[in-house]
Amino acid sequence: MRQVPVNTRDGSYRVLIGRGLLTQAGRLLRELLPGPTAIVVSDTTVARTHGGRLIEALKAAGYGVRLLEVPPGEPSKSLAQADWLYAALADAQADRATPLLALGGGVVSDLAGFVSATWMRGMPFAILPTTTEADLDASLGGKTAVNHSAGKNLIGAFHQPRLVIIDVDCLATLPDRDYAAGLAESVKHAMIADRGFFEWQIANHRHIGQRDPQTLEALIERNCSIKAEVVAGDEREAGPRMVLNLGHTVGHAFEAEMEYELRHGECVALGILAASLIAAHRGTFPSTGHERLVVLLQAYGLPTRLPRPVTVEAVLARLAHDKKVRGGRRNFVLPTAIGEVQIVGDVQDAEIAHAAESLQPIGG
Ligand SMILES: NC(=O)c1ccc[n+]([C@@H]2O[C@H](COP(=O)([O-])OP(=O)(O)OC[C@H]3O[C@@H](n4cnc5c(N)ncnc54)[C@H](O)[C@@H]3O)[C@@H](O)[C@H]2O)c1
Ligand SMILES: [Zn+2]
Repeated sequence: MRQVPVNTRDGSYRVLIGRGLLTQAGRLLRELLPGPTAIVVSDTTVARTHGGRLIEALKAAGYGVRLLEVPPGEPSKSLAQADWLYAALADAQADRATPLLALGGGVVSDLAGFVSATWMRGMPFAILPTTTEADLDASLGGKTAVNHSAGKNLIGAFHQPRLVIIDVDCLATLPDRDYAAGLAESVKHAMIADRGFFEWQIANHRHIGQRDPQTLEALIERNCSIKAEVVAGDEREAGPRMVLNLGHTVGHAFEAEMEYELRHGECVALGILAASLIAAHRGTFPSTGHERLVVLLQAYGLPTRLPRPVTVEAVLARLAHDKKVRGGRRNFVLPTAIGEVQIVGDVQDAEIAHAAESLQPIGG
């Protein structure tokens, strides 16, 4: 079992990574989260495939268990779904000491995290991620949220988990498309912080694609370490943490414009490419770096173009709206080299338009 410590002002916790950890989860959680009853939030797909093993382990460790299932997919990250969970918590007489466990992908951990942050002003929370997206990114850092019609993740709270337990065996059942999508966050982390890790991913892409458990453990550990390092000391995103938004500015605009028909990670891949194109066009990122980026994204089976045309004006309108909602700032994270980024405040609409044009489908 590998361990990554995460230190924040709001508390320190560990990320545990290994095979078969779901079956040990009761024992691992028991030390940190006492209580007669544990609430498990999952989606119906994950509950069916992995819920049984977790519930058995929790019961063996002496917990009573209440399983709350939401429909799979991004629409579950809503206030309506949070409201349904609050009612279920009231019904279960959950209080400030009741542990709430998220079993699933980023949708489940963001939603359950938000509910655990707000129910009675905060209940203890742990995450058992089951997607690459959640293993490599969403489980770590304490950001929780639901979406609003005005934009993604607009209603949220910072709430650190007490423990993250990553059972790499869960990834065996993840559909190929979701599996590949989450790897975009690994490309992001390497682009931000570690050229050697970027090249390691290119060299190991076959093992990663085959979901070799040992390679996955190493991949997840390095991603968690990079994110933990960036998040430490800046868990409220006042400064350095902003670099984690690489690919997410234009990525979120694509995500909304495609009406969530693309996966979050697929949009992040396209967003990183947009940032890379903008930087290359400015002459602040070598074109060889851009080519290397395309190599890794393609090796992972991630899109390097939009699947259908998206109007550039619509993307710019989304970004303008986003800027307004977020207090008039539009900071862009741009690569300067593989493994290095800078934050730039003066990216013009014309530069974004040019990048978005270059990502249109061929002949589209
Ligand atoms: N809080 C953060 O810091 C943070 C970081 C990154 C992403 N996110 C959020 O995460 C969300 C995306 O997460 P996601 O990609 O994990 O999506 P998801 O939770 O919707 O999971 C994707 C799909 O895979 C299914 N699934 C999950 N695990 C499975 C398994 N082991 N076997 C079979 N099927 C499985 C789910 O039912 C779902 O249909 C977005 O809303 C994004 O905003 C948050
Ligand atoms: Zn992301």
